[in-house]
Amino acid sequence: MTTTTRQVPLLDLVAQHATIREQVLAEVLPLIDSQRFIMGPAVGELECKVAGYTQSRYAIGCASGSDALLLAWMALELGPGDKVITTPYSFFATAGSLARIGIEPVFVDIDPLTMNLDPNQVEDALRRHRNVWAIQPVHLFGGAADMDPLLEIASRHGAVVVEDAAQAIGAEYKGRRCGAIGAMGCFSFYPGKNLGGWGDSGMVTTNDAALAGVLAKARLHGGRTKYIHEFVGVNSRIDTLQAAVLKVKMQFLDAWTEARQRNAARYTSLFREMNTPVGLPAIAPYQTRHVFNQYTIRCPRRDELKSHLAAQGIGTEIYYPLPLHLQECFADLGYQKGHLPESERLAEEALSLPVYPELTGEDLVYVASHVNAFYAK
Ligand SMILES: Cc1ncc(COP(=O)(O)O)c(C=O)c1O
Repeated sequence: MTTTTRQVPLLDLVAQHATIREQVLAEVLPLIDSQRFIMGPAVGELECKVAGYTQSRYAIGCASGSDALLLAWMALELGPGDKVITTPYSFFATAGSLARIGIEPVFVDIDPLTMNLDPNQVEDALRRHRNVWAIQPVHLFGGAADMDPLLEIASRHGAVVVEDAAQAIGAEYKGRRCGAIGAMGCFSFYPGKNLGGWGDSGMVTTNDAALAGVLAKARLHGGRTKYIHEFVGVNSRIDTLQAAVLKVKMQFLDAWTEARQRNAARYTSLFREMNTPVGLPAIAPYQTRHVFNQYTIRCPRRDELKSHLAAQGIGTEIYYPLPLHLQECFADLGYQKGHLPESERLAEEALSLPVYPELTGEDLVYVASHVNAFYAK
């Protein structure tokens, strides 16, 4: 008798697409027939929807989450000689978007519980560095960073807070939506995000009319009137096709988020019941709506566990194996192993499990049981 191993990938976008195929095609096919792919009506419509959803006054679409960050720094007119405090425990774009325009990232360690920038260490970094004009927390894995102390420290030092909310659409900090708390919020609609398109796109949110005006020009080579350029910007429009897809997907975002939250809660209760020796995602009291872009556990013998799960047909991912301060491209900043120990430890222990909305109850039990079985051996 042959037994087939259950397959539980890290993410199953085909399963998601099957549930909304007709609605998305009804929106996209007329667009394809019209062949009007640049800055069509779907762009403004999506921007309005995202502004409303994130409780922001303005939302400006662009080509990716990485560009959303880049545009935010351009709008603040930061560049060579300027510094921004950020977390080393994030996707590369968090620091890459700074370095790309000559801004120096100043890496400050994370709080090991929330895995987000530790506000207690930010003040010290501000004392040690001159020319820090902004603090950039990341709402990692869909859980809010501790914003109030960051805002307070920033305002005392004449700096602003820019939120990397790429993984956190709909997440809340003390009831306030991430991305609308600092001066600007930067979102990614990369397919694997909670709200993901059919390719790359992103958005910047803000409550500041002047910044919104600059952002809207910065993505169009520095001008909104054709062939008239007030400053040097970039070509970073949001694709109309992506906007059309995302507009449809937004209708389902809350239901998908609730399914992610249910899946996360189920894993946590299964691991507790089984007494599995892994660190579970902590939800700080100020994280009033964690949206679980990832469900990330801390595990002893992490790499062995990952291989064990792969052999059982379970997809996992290591977000992130090498913290940003130890990346080769930032070697000249002078950080060494041991400088930011919490981030370095997490990079050795973190493993993200499948948490996508379409998982079944059986899938969750299957994944949790195989994690537990690995340690029971
Ligand atoms: C925290 C974080 N910042 C920035 C980005 C960049 O977004 P994108 O991939 O859309 O450029 C991502 C996406 O992977 C991310 O996770």
